[in-house]
Parts: sequence; C-alpha cells; structure tokens
Amino acid sequence: MRIAVLGGDGFVGWPTTLHLSAKGHELAIVDNLSRRWVDTELGIQSLTPMDSIQERMRIWKEVSGQSLTFAHIDVATEYERFRHWVKQWRPQVIIHLAQQRAAPYSMKTDRHKNYTVNNNVRATHNLLSSVVEADLDTHLVHMGTMGVYGYDSIGITIPEGYLDVDVTLDDGTQCSREILYPVSPGSIYHMTKCLDQLIFQFYAKNDQVRITDLHQGIVWGTHTDQTRKHEQLINRFDYDGDYGTILNRFLIQAAIGYPLTVHGTGGQTRAFIHIQDSVRCIELAIQSPPKVGDRTKIFNQITEVHRIRDLAKLIQKMTGAEIAYVPNPRNESDENELKVKNDQFTELGLQPITLETGLLDELIEIAKKYQKRIDRSLIPCTSLWNKRVRERMQVLSPSPARKAQ
Ligand SMILES: NC(=O)c1ccc[n+]([C@@H]2O[C@H](COP(=O)([O-])OP(=O)(O)OC[C@H]3O[C@@H](n4cnc5c(N)ncnc54)[C@H](O)[C@@H]3O)[C@@H](O)[C@H]2O)c1
Repeated sequence: MRIAVLGGDGFVGWPTTLHLSAKGHELAIVDNLSRRWVDTELGIQSLTPMDSIQERMRIWKEVSGQSLTFAHIDVATEYERFRHWVKQWRPQVIIHLAQQRAAPYSMKTDRHKNYTVNNNVRATHNLLSSVVEADLDTHLVHMGTMGVYGYDSIGITIPEGYLDVDVTLDDGTQCSREILYPVSPGSIYHMTKCLDQLIFQFYAKNDQVRITDLHQGIVWGTHTDQTRKHEQLINRFDYDGDYGTILNRFLIQAAIGYPLTVHGTGGQTRAFIHIQDSVRCIELAIQSPPKVGDRTKIFNQITEVHRIRDLAKLIQKMTGAEIAYVPNPRNESDENELKVKNDQFTELGLQPITLETGLLDELIEIAKKYQKRIDRSLIPCTSLWNKRVRERMQVLSPSPARKAQ
C-alpha cells in the first residue's frame, strides 16, 4: 500500500514509518520539522541523539533495502502545496500525526495556545479538505488521545468513542441514540483533539471519507524492532517538563539520581501503551478500515491503566530512586478512577507489552548511556495551567523559574 505518515519525523511517526516500511509498504513522510524547532525554542534536545530526517532515511535504506520519500510541507499553513502533493502521490492510507502534541507546551502562554489551535485544527481540516478535493478513497488514520474523555471519575467504563443514551422525545416516548462520548478536555492541546472529532464526524457524514481515530494513552518506551537495528535509527526520547511523558520521565530521573517528580498526591490514574504496541495498533487499524459511509471508527489505543504514585513506587522498588511529591502545575483532580474498554485491538490480535514485560530495564540503560546529554534544570514542569495555579505556585515556591515565559 502507498502510505503517507504526516508527522513521520516525530516520536510515534518515525517508528511507525519504519514498521510499515519493513512490512513492504511504500512509505512517504510529510513533516515540517517543527518539533525540531520547538527543541530549539525551549533549549532542549532529545535524550537520544537524532540525525537529520534525510540521514535517518539513508541509514534505513542501507539497513532494510527499502526507500522512503520525504516532503517538507507544513500541513497547517501550506494548503496548496499539500493538496498538490496528495494529488500527485495519491496515498491509499494517510496516518495523521502532524500536530503539536504536548499539553504543557500548549498551556505555556497565549502564544503557545494560539499556535497549538492554529496548527492542530488547520492541519486536520487541510488534510480532509485536500483528500476530498483530490477525489481519493484514502483511509485516514488519526492519532487522538484518551484525554478527550477527561478524567472525571463518573463511575463508567469508558467506551470506544461512542455512548448509548436514552433520550425522551417531545411526545414523552423514549428513543436510543448513539452519540460521541461527551468530551472534557484538560488543556488546549486536548481541546484541539476534541475539535478534531467534530471535523471527522462531518467529513465522514458529508463526504464519506473513511476515518479511524485512535484515542491513545500515554506512550512509554523509545525502541521498536526497527529502531534497534542501527544506532542512527534511534527514536527521539523526551525527558523535559513539557514534552517528556510521565513513565519515560520517571525512568530517566531514576537513571540519573533525580527524585521522581510526582504532581500532587499522584492519585491521577492514566492509560498507557508501549511504543512498539502503538505502531502495531496503527498497522492493525490500517488492516481493518471502516467502509465507505461508516461513521468514524474509534479505538481506545491503550494496554494498561496505572495510578501515577503506584508507577513511581514501582520504579522506586526497581531502582531505589527517591520520590518527590511536588505541587501540581496543572488544573486537574488530584485523584481519579479510570476504567477503559479496549476490546477492539485485542480482538484484532494485539498482544500487549505491559510494564511487567521487562522493557523498563532497557529504558534505564538508554537513559544511563546518554545521561551526559541531560540538562537537569529542564526536568521540572514549569508550564502553569491558569492564574489560580500560578498564584498557588507563587505561594508554595516563589522562584522566578515558576513563571510562565
Ligand atoms: N506521545 C504520546 O504519548 C502521545 C499520546 C497520545 C497521542 N499522541 C498523538 O500522536 C501524535 C504524534 O505524537 P508524537 O509523540 O509523535 O509527537 P511529536 O511531536 O514527536 O511528532 C509530531 C510530528 O509532527 C510534525 N508536525 C507538527 N505540526 C506539523 C504541521 N503543521 N505540518 C507538518 N508536520 C507537523 C512535527 O514536526 C513532528 O515531527 C500526535 O498527534 C499526538 O497528539 C501522542
């Protein structure tokens, strides 16, 4: 199949590209390399040294014999160029990962909020609009987030995207309806993913575009079978307070003797998935597309659920690391319950990699190997969610580093 990966230079996009290329598909990466510019803006770098996208592609060709193509296009702002590219390359599947993906980054300042909304919503709409304009029957696979459901603990197992509700009609009779699960975003970033869902709903209904939306949990790990094949194929590995994801951050902190930073009581419960499973789920979603005229197909792309303080304690047990309970910079409940349905991927044959599988050690080894690249001052989360949180933090820790920039 001809598969385009928008955002193919990123943390999920690069191993996804290699995984599908290794399966014999024809792959093209579309990326504006903005994530590398964000590194420059924030003065951070991936823990693992990343080569240029062109060099990574050259090495992959050497290792696998497979060619990749790369188009340097901003999907959000270069609509004409992107539409032209889609018409020329005619992808059968487009995997859409080309969005600003860090909640803390999206909450830094009004500029970051605006950028995240403009970038993410326009990228999604430009993509759909260009597929319709090119008159292609392309299957669009988007990476959404579990965060669209919110973390409200209302005592329900979260279904895969849709909720059955009973509605009382004007004449007093009851009817059943299936609606998109009510959204409850906790950041501007999550809000853009909620808006994506409406855009998908419209294009699936109006233009019969075949769309799959993957509501993914927090990704951990860095290596997949392909990125292990050569040092220069290594995936990015973020550890900083904006882009580092929680479990990866804990492992890096443990590896360098930095206390594990638990926000608040650590009673937040979140869903997780290993990067190897993430790319495998994308492949399974491609193999099981919706039919023309179907509603958006939604999968919960998660394999396990953990409370944050339990994760910290697990890593403490493995490594002897200290745990530091620090004030929570986010506007979120200190404690929540989370139960999530994820039957569809299991039925399609996913055999989940769990924390018990032993890959935690591999990550600690990588963190130790590259620890000289870590700037410890970039580890704390300094992005504060609102004025109330800023005032609370000011009282608790009146340091200038806590100020939003
Ligand atoms: N990493 C996670 O834990 C996680 C969890 C849930 C969902 N997701 C979703 O998965 C997707 C990929 O996440 P990731 O961790 O690989 O992020 P990433 O930031 O590493 O990769 C995103 C890539 O998209 C590119 N990009 C951004 N805007 C673009 C634009 N306008 N035009 C072209 N390219 C653009 C960036 O340069 C980057 O290479 C995101 O949509 C994210 O919301 C990620």
